[in-house]
Amino acid sequence: MARSSTPSSLTVATLFAATLLFLLHPSNAQLTAGFYAKTCPDVSSIVQNVIHEALQSDPRITASLLRLHFHDCFVKGCDGSILLDNSPTIKSEKDAAPSFQTVRGFRVVDKIKEAIERACPKTVSCADILALSANASVYLSGGPYWTVLLGRRDGLTANPALANISIPSPFDSYANLVSKFAAVGLDITDLVTLSGAHTFGRAHCKSFSPRLYNFTANGGPDPTLSPWYLTALRKLCPPNFNSRVLAENDPTTPNLFDNHYYSNLQKNDGLFQSDQELYSTAGAATISIVNSFSADQNAFFESFTRSIINMGNISPLTGSNGEIRFNCRKVNGI
Ligand code: HEM
Ligand SMILES: *[C@@H]1O[C@H](CO)[C@@H](O)[C@H](O)[C@H]1NC(C)=O
Ligand SMILES: *[C@@H]1O[C@H](CO)[C@@H](O)[C@H](O)[C@H]1NC(C)=O
Ligand SMILES: *[C@@H]1O[C@H](CO)[C@@H](O)[C@H](O)[C@H]1NC(C)=O
Repeated sequence: MARSSTPSSLTVATLFAATLLFLLHPSNAQLTAGFYAKTCPDVSSIVQNVIHEALQSDPRITASLLRLHFHDCFVKGCDGSILLDNSPTIKSEKDAAPSFQTVRGFRVVDKIKEAIERACPKTVSCADILALSANASVYLSGGPYWTVLLGRRDGLTANPALANISIPSPFDSYANLVSKFAAVGLDITDLVTLSGAHTFGRAHCKSFSPRLYNFTANGGPDPTLSPWYLTALRKLCPPNFNSRVLAENDPTTPNLFDNHYYSNLQKNDGLFQSDQELYSTAGAATISIVNSFSADQNAFFESFTRSIINMGNISPLTGSNGEIRFNCRKVNGI
């Protein structure tokens, strides 16, 4: 297209809009589905096989691995930061409040990494291993699979202070949940959809016990908790609860990735305050999304494939930024 005239105002406006779009999505451009097609063609089956094997003795491992991808991506992007252990130079995000004594699955990540290193040394990042593990885990638990975009590199730092403020808390208000998702470029559809991950996995009493006792001004429990569920959770977690006791996130089908999370919310059977707020906050825009996913599991699954890709696109390191870690627990060369 050769035009000799000076750019029209329309061209300028189009260019401006295109630049703006590019600036709003600066990072996704470089992740691709075929990133390891030549350098590590079997990476998907290696990941899937290790998780399938782990699942035989640990029915919760798929949930735990999906959560690691979330805790990785919400802190300065999907860069494997959640996997770094404490060291003289690293203050681990594993000890930040949202993750402390509740994140798990690291030995299985190590196994995946070791198997991949044997097949294709120094090639696949730990951040990509978490993205691939999320896909395999959701699928192996009965959920959908998606086109995993790859090419992330591993970061050289961890940031527990940022983890404290970036990863949502189960006690956050509806407005805070919305704003913590918005801070990483995710909207309320992503919020409702990704919260649906609480359709499987487990939680410690400390993550919901404030709802059970002395929650309201006059000492009552959270009024948005159904009577049978309140009774059951109080029995599981008495005031002096054992810190190791676990509740099922979805009491109906604890290990299945399905849409029961949403029908639970409709019955006031959400486990976390942050779950139930998506349905019980008066006038919230999230209510109709909960209703649509409760009515139609395929709509939830389709939305999940979109939202998990959005989450996986949060500020990845690409090109020559960061590194490919040899051991997911520590940065290279230390
Ligand atoms: C919306 C904000 C969110 C909050 C406040 C939140 C909070 C929590 C809490 C408190 C736990 C239980 C920790 C424990 O006591 O052991 C948990 C577990 C879990 N979360 Fe979330 N979460 C959120 C979003 C997400 C997202 C986006 C995902 C993934 C896409 C996710 C996946 C999971 C899974 C699978 C578990 C169970 C893990 C296991 O059994 O090891 N969560 N979450
Ligand atoms: C995602 O999971 C599906 C189902 O297991 C699998 O066929 C596919 O290869 C996986 N994608 C990647 C990139 O690993
Ligand atoms: C994160 O929050 C916890 C609990 O509030 C606090 O003890 C810890 O010092 C914080 N960590 C950082 C690095 O700010
Ligand atoms: C309940 O909470 C109020 C403040 O909200 C506090 O004054 C009171 O001591 C608490 N009661 C118990 C039994 O913890």
